[in-house]
Amino acid sequence: MTTAPDLIRFKAEGRRFAVLTAYDYPTAVILDRAEIPVLLVGDSVANTVLGYPTTLQVTLEEMVQHCRAVSRGSRNALLVGDLPFGTYEASPEQALVSAARLLREGGVHAVKLEGGLSQIQTVRRLTQAGIPVMGHLGLTPQSVHQFGGYKVQGRDAKSQAEILEGAGELEAAGAFSIVLEAVPAPLAESVTRALRIPTIGIGAGPACDGQVLVLHDMLGIPERVPRFVKRYGELGSEIERLARQYASEVADGTFPGPEHSYPK
Ligand code: KIV
Repeated sequence: MTTAPDLIRFKAEGRRFAVLTAYDYPTAVILDRAEIPVLLVGDSVANTVLGYPTTLQVTLEEMVQHCRAVSRGSRNALLVGDLPFGTYEASPEQALVSAARLLREGGVHAVKLEGGLSQIQTVRRLTQAGIPVMGHLGLTPQSVHQFGGYKVQGRDAKSQAEILEGAGELEAAGAFSIVLEAVPAPLAESVTRALRIPTIGIGAGPACDGQVLVLHDMLGIPERVPRFVKRYGELGSEIERLARQYASEVADGTFPGPEHSYPK
């Protein structure tokens, strides 16, 4: 089984690793079979699966349910659960109560939270309580309204300095890895070089120690995906094709055939 300290070792050994999102039991079983070492039960479940407009609407109760489903299906992956918006920002104590639910009830092994300097006390509190913490810098979707949309971050000197400083402070506070989302590749490279813990990029170029993608995006389920996503398949149109075929076979009576029926 992959552990949080393993990821730090992977970086020391120069071993790159893949992370994918998972929100349910069958996906966790399949991704475990595919030997994906880290599964993120991301709050992207909000817009990807639950139909919410942004990640801001998903609740801790919903995250616990998705974490539980994934933990029932996965045997080998390090499971990371996202702390949803509004369940950790008020205080380190609030974060500890929320994170404990994701571990105890959800069965994940670590939590992820968004933010840099504003979250240092919280990361310290969680790690002191024995909870591994993954940081998340750059385009942090829970701040979409503050950013004025899903925009690349770290393009100007001030924002670059904030991300670099935030990453160093997260590492010092005990985080075991940091997601870098939608930042220029040279900035991600500088952050990656500066840290002992691994960076996990999504739209952050090739220099990161690991990469993460939203599973539904890489499978081609949504019609539109961000520029940084590589579509490894076109499952959206394939599901539509299969559903149409099924409906037409029901309509013309070719399904169910004798092989799908019980003679007695
Ligand atoms: O919620 C999520 O899926 C994430 C990844 C995009 C890193 O935070």
